[in-house]
Amino acid sequence: MTTAIQPVTLFSADESNGPGGEASYGHFKTQGVDTTHGAILYLESISVVFDGFRALNDLSLDIGVGELRCIIGPNGAGKTTMMDVITGKTKPTAGTAFFGQNIDLTKMHEAQIADVGIGRKFQRPTVFEQHTVFENLELAMKTNKRVRPTLFARLTGAQRDKIGETLALLRLTAECHRPAGLLSHGQKQWLEIGMLLMQEPLLLLLDEPVAGMTDAETERTGELLNELRGKHSLVVVEHDMDFVSQISQGGKVTVLCEGSVLAQGTMEQVQSDPRVIEVYLGR
Ligand SMILES: Nc1ncnc2c1ncn2[C@@H]1O[C@H](COP(=O)(O)OP(=O)(O)OP(=O)(O)O)[C@@H](O)[C@H]1O
Ligand SMILES: [Mg+2]
Repeated sequence: MTTAIQPVTLFSADESNGPGGEASYGHFKTQGVDTTHGAILYLESISVVFDGFRALNDLSLDIGVGELRCIIGPNGAGKTTMMDVITGKTKPTAGTAFFGQNIDLTKMHEAQIADVGIGRKFQRPTVFEQHTVFENLELAMKTNKRVRPTLFARLTGAQRDKIGETLALLRLTAECHRPAGLLSHGQKQWLEIGMLLMQEPLLLLLDEPVAGMTDAETERTGELLNELRGKHSLVVVEHDMDFVSQISQGGKVTVLCEGSVLAQGTMEQVQSDPRVIEVYLGR
């Protein structure tokens, strides 16, 4: 017998989002996750210790519903480790991580966390190279456990429309019948973001999405993320400051350093913060 938490129980226990278990913030649907206090994610006093080394040190952070939050910070600051904690890959040594008010992520397995609506993009694209772009999106849609469609069932008109919209969003409509393996690095990254979108995540985590991209691809990725703003909650870790400026748009940027929040504010505020300048430029 496993102690696994059943997401279904968590959803039905939530009364605050109405009888259908859904709350709507504009276009943003929270699908049963209790976000009555305005945040989709709460990290509180998280520490992760690897063999005596503190990768995260008493880290506290909230992400608002529909927010696009950028996280910056020097190498080794703990940015990827923070994503590992949110997605269940790493269990914190101390602290709590809640999805909405009532879903305790520290007690769940990676697959369960994905099922409740947290999608993660790693740095390297992982698309099905032999399959076409369209088929990649189709496969991703059909493995969306929260919709529970049948893998071998034919696509409905609505599903085809959804794939068509996503192809247009990714600017991959013209490539839709090409094998994904023939796409450029940037196009593969966009396709993978599209595959995550087919899972209808409530929270999407992107770790260095523009690493290795050309300048044009980087700018296009910024446009894509700006189009997702307000429709999904997004956490984007990046070192490319021009890109962070492009997507932060007056929103909050968090600077991590030595496993904790060093500074937080608009891009302009954090860039002029002497502590941040010191961390980036050295003493
Ligand atoms: N599994 C692990 N075992 C031991 N140490 C680890 C482990 N994972 C990460 N670390 C250490 O924890 C610290 C934080 O690493 P992390 O990868 O989270 O940093 P980061 O902010 O993502 O850095 P970068 O910008 O280089 O990607 C680093 O010093 C790293 O060496
Ligand atoms: Mg990292």
